[in-house]
Amino acid sequence: CGIVGYIGTNDAKEVLLKGLEKLEYRGYDSAGIALVAKEGIEVFKEKGRIATLRSVVDEKAAGTVGIGHTRWATHGEPSRINAHPHQSKTERFTLVHNGVIENYEQLSREYLTDVKPASDTDTEIIVLLIEKFVGEGQSVESAFSHTLSLLKGSYAIALLDGENSEIIYVGKSKSPLLIGVGDGFNVIASDAMAMLQVTKQFLEIMDEEYVILSRDHVVIKTLNGETRTREPFIAEYDASDIEKGTYPHYMLKEIDEQPFVIRNIIQQYQNEDGTIRLDDDIRDAMKQSDRIYVIAAGTSYHAGLVGKQLIEKIAKRPVEVHIASEFLYNMPLLSENPLFIFISQSGETADLRGVLVEVKKHGYQALTITNVPGSTLSREADFTLHTFAGPEIAVASTKAYTAQMAVFTLLAVDTANAQGIELDFDPLQELGIVANAMEVLTDQKEKLEKIARHYLAVSRNAFFIGRAADYYVCLEGALKLKEISYIQAEGFAGGELKHGTIALIEDGTPVIALATQEHVNLSIRGNVKEVAARGASPCIISMEGMNEETDAFVIPAVHEFLTPLVSVLPLQLIAYYAALHRDCDVDKPRNLAKSVTVE
Ligand code: G6P
Repeated sequence: CGIVGYIGTNDAKEVLLKGLEKLEYRGYDSAGIALVAKEGIEVFKEKGRIATLRSVVDEKAAGTVGIGHTRWATHGEPSRINAHPHQSKTERFTLVHNGVIENYEQLSREYLTDVKPASDTDTEIIVLLIEKFVGEGQSVESAFSHTLSLLKGSYAIALLDGENSEIIYVGKSKSPLLIGVGDGFNVIASDAMAMLQVTKQFLEIMDEEYVILSRDHVVIKTLNGETRTREPFIAEYDASDIEKGTYPHYMLKEIDEQPFVIRNIIQQYQNEDGTIRLDDDIRDAMKQSDRIYVIAAGTSYHAGLVGKQLIEKIAKRPVEVHIASEFLYNMPLLSENPLFIFISQSGETADLRGVLVEVKKHGYQALTITNVPGSTLSREADFTLHTFAGPEIAVASTKAYTAQMAVFTLLAVDTANAQGIELDFDPLQELGIVANAMEVLTDQKEKLEKIARHYLAVSRNAFFIGRAADYYVCLEGALKLKEISYIQAEGFAGGELKHGTIALIEDGTPVIALATQEHVNLSIRGNVKEVAARGASPCIISMEGMNEETDAFVIPAVHEFLTPLVSVLPLQLIAYYAALHRDCDVDKPRNLAKSVTVE
């Protein structure tokens, strides 16, 4: 979910709606805004996208103070009733919330036996509690901070009081939240991107702090009542980076940007003498650790699998890769000097943050590889490596994935250099070749569109098979296809398919095979024959030098360490065109959110 707020002198409605449009990547199953109007607080909310919300907001509704929310449902189905803002029974208080309140049922039993919530959400309990405490004689501020201190879980909250339009109350714990500072106005946003339209100056709010926000003042307090002061930082986005220009979809734009992203990474991490530029502290941390634990989710997890291979092959360091949501419950035996690497496009994924908080408690060092340097995971880790991919808006991640792998390559080589390992591999030059190969691929959209149409326009399911590094790319290719076309797709290690899943192969089942690894080229082709013999419709995507005449598509050759950075591009484009052919919403697939800020 994402939240916004505005308190100033202009029309709040437009600022809130525009802000929510920029936050839609965080969830888009329902949305709402509340405005402080002369007659009290007016709430507009609706199931569906921000565009739907726009259509129900009364054009005449006016107010210079307001809050808004775009939702990714956790408690209660997407519906108008469960959409935020939520109001207290007297409608004096109105609230939006991003996060999950784990103890909401317990709080409701303890404090609210005489109140019947209108929705199924955990959020409504918060606003009901505030009203109850105010009813018992507490000031609004103390009712607010008292309520926050009772909440277990994660929250970023904004609260309007219908009897005082001069203040918005804001609270935060675990969920991201920034205050944007302006001249005669202040704003609230889950992500700076939402408010770049009005300001570039933002204040970080820390966990268990709350804010009393007025037009001219930002008063930050801790739940213990201490006042904090803090200097704003400047958000370094270029607002034009977050427009899609002439592209029909962000995803296509972002796929096309990959060669530039790789060149940008080469530039950003290169010294004048052509060597790699990385922080000495990161180099030392890598050198001192005896084992690296990579923690990630989704596409970033897939990049982590490739990162493991890069670090182990190039820098000869043992690496384990773990799914963030499982790590704390299924923890491996840690080595003596572990180094944790968190990979996250957004830097906000709650599952990763849970692990980071735990890791820091034990005093272990943490490095975040992220596309958003000011993000929570970046701020809270000891070190950050920036992926320099520019804002990624499409829910299905593309350029962030290749950027993560490029940064892993540099980290691996730098670690190898620091240990005096002789390498026959110039990463900056080889990444340059990767960027050129990516350009060749993005120029072959028509061919890939035909492949998507031929194999995937009507199929119910699809398999991706590959060996060695290709296997990891197959996991990502299958995820891309699932996410945006809703075709049931699975990535398999070439040799594993026959141990069960081959039972699913029927006449015409598409099997996309990657063949970019010389040492397993013959065996993956053998696996293709096995499925073809059982009726599958195979589509081989191979690399120059290993290709055969019947292959459906051939990728330009790149260094063997870096094949995933290019072999994923045809899979991204095939997924894109498959989704188009099936009339799916490419940039905002159903049920997903780009940044999952709940555990
Ligand atoms: C969500 C997105 C995925 C993404 C994952 C991890 O589930 O839909 O595309 O890979 O989160 O996100 P992160 O920002 O941590 O890389």
